[in-house]
Amino acid sequence: MSGDFTEEEKNGLYKAVYSRRDVRAHFTSEPIEDKILTKILNAAHHAPSVGFSQPWNFILIKSTSTKKKIKESFEKEKTRSSDMVKEPRKSKYLSFKLEGILDSPVNICVTYDPSKFGPFVIGRSSIPETGIYSVCCAVQNLWLAARTEGIGLGWVSILSNETLRETLKLPDHVVPVAYLCLGYVDEFAQKPDLESSGWLPRLDLKDVVYYEKWEQKDSPEWNQIHEMIRTNLDYA
Ligand SMILES: Cc1cc2nc3c(=O)[nH]c(=O)nc-3n(C[C@H](O)[C@H](O)[C@H](O)COP(=O)(O)O)c2cc1C
Repeated sequence: MSGDFTEEEKNGLYKAVYSRRDVRAHFTSEPIEDKILTKILNAAHHAPSVGFSQPWNFILIKSTSTKKKIKESFEKEKTRSSDMVKEPRKSKYLSFKLEGILDSPVNICVTYDPSKFGPFVIGRSSIPETGIYSVCCAVQNLWLAARTEGIGLGWVSILSNETLRETLKLPDHVVPVAYLCLGYVDEFAQKPDLESSGWLPRLDLKDVVYYEKWEQKDSPEWNQIHEMIRTNLDYA
């Protein structure tokens, strides 16, 4: 079956993909309705997962005291990690706003539970990381669904997993994968903040596509697409 998406529906999907942003600031005071949050969570829950293990859980957080503990961990980790960067980038790094924990109405911790439907999960026996990859697929679904609803989402990874474990009372076998901050925003930036600020550029597609072998940048069998990708034609 090809073409069961109309042009309009396809455009909707690509719009969500290209206009999704990591959002850490400018959340409005509008609360997220439970119905919308349910829809977004359900989209996440329909992500692919290795062996259909659905190894995710979503911990919904609005308690200010919990958020404050997480924010403290962020501050500590941000300072600690800044020692890994030399000036002038260190000051630039420290000037970035890299979380919206207290500014956003809803925080969600997405976790990985390897014991779900285990220990044997089809497809996970050779590459155990596929469990975590599955949780990341759920996060991406959640991110795109939120974007479609006009809800900004920021992923905060400058955190201590130990703090997350203690604060959220995670059992030892459960791994925190993503800490997300969600809230409505009036607009989404055109480009990633780290691109606009000159921290890093977006790579050209041509520089990340190889043909047949690692670092092989062209091949006769791939001529046409190679040319399209090289000349930046029509893919955005
Ligand atoms: C696994 C992961 C962890 C991230 N952690 C942080 C973070 O701690 N703080 C932050 O501000 N952004 C974080 N981001 C967001 C990225 O910086 C952002 O996705 C990237 O700059 C591209 O911007 P865009 O998402 O707006 O396209 C994270 C993104 C991912 C996928």
